[in-house]
Amino acid sequence: MKLSDKIALVTGGTSGIGLEAAKLFREEGANVIIVGQNQARLDAAASQLGKGVTALRADVTKPADIEGVINQVREKFGRIDVLFANAGMGLAAPLEAVTEDQIDTQFGVNFKGVFFTVQKAAPLLSKGGSIVITTSFLNEVGTPGLSILSATKAAVRSLVRTLGAELAQRGIRVNAISPGPVSTPFHGKLGLSAKELDETASAIESQVPLHRFGEPAEIAKAALFLASEDSAFMTGSEVVVDGGISQL
Ligand SMILES: NC(=O)c1ccc[n+]([C@@H]2O[C@H](COP(=O)([O-])OP(=O)(O)OC[C@H]3O[C@@H](n4cnc5c(N)ncnc54)[C@H](OP(=O)(O)O)[C@@H]3O)[C@@H](O)[C@H]2O)c1
Repeated sequence: MKLSDKIALVTGGTSGIGLEAAKLFREEGANVIIVGQNQARLDAAASQLGKGVTALRADVTKPADIEGVINQVREKFGRIDVLFANAGMGLAAPLEAVTEDQIDTQFGVNFKGVFFTVQKAAPLLSKGGSIVITTSFLNEVGTPGLSILSATKAAVRSLVRTLGAELAQRGIRVNAISPGPVSTPFHGKLGLSAKELDETASAIESQVPLHRFGEPAEIAKAALFLASEDSAFMTGSEVVVDGGISQL
């Protein structure tokens, strides 16, 4: 088992990629803490994942919420070995329709949320610990209507390098996992109509060299690689799992 007796905290662990990663980390021997903002989805995920999983509520846009979670983890487990900062969301809008609110919301979750998750968890991270942060293929490509979401992910890609440099002296590695389009509820929350969603899905499938969406389990396997000793000589890197969309 790759994560025997490790303490792994997964934000966005109630759905999609985070939920699959929580499941896999658990199967690999970790004590897993999942974090989400919605209590009903947290309860559903916790009962799906079963024993060895602790579900804690926090809105990652609120540093005080994150601090509350970290305090509970400190009391119950005393340390964190793996931090998967994965919670994220996106809103689609063309240049002329983007509002200040949309910018604040997306940067609030995807950048500020990730930053404060790492900042608040850092004192509990053990030597040899691994931080994995979810970026996106959108770092590398220009997609109409996704300017702000893409910029949040590019900002987080940069953060991985800086935090990697800052935490290397404590023996803590920081890497990114960059998914391509993946079949999760994420797309349904972009604010698109059903027709627009269908059209976008078809367009994406034709753009991905492997001609399909990825599965959350495929991203979770790469997150496990970064979380575990298998990637012991990697920090500041980004593992791309995107069917080739940003690469070919
Ligand atoms: N799906 C894709 O095609 C794709 C592609 C590239 C990158 N990504 C990235 O992958 C990550 C996971 O996305 P996913 O596809 O698994 O989407 P998802 O199924 O919608 O899951 C998103 C998760 O983030 C949590 N979350 C959102 N806002 C939060 C907040 N303010 N506070 C705490 N938790 C919050 C959600 O919790 P609640 O349920 O409580 O809201 C949920 O657990 C994101 O960072 C996303 O940007 C996804």
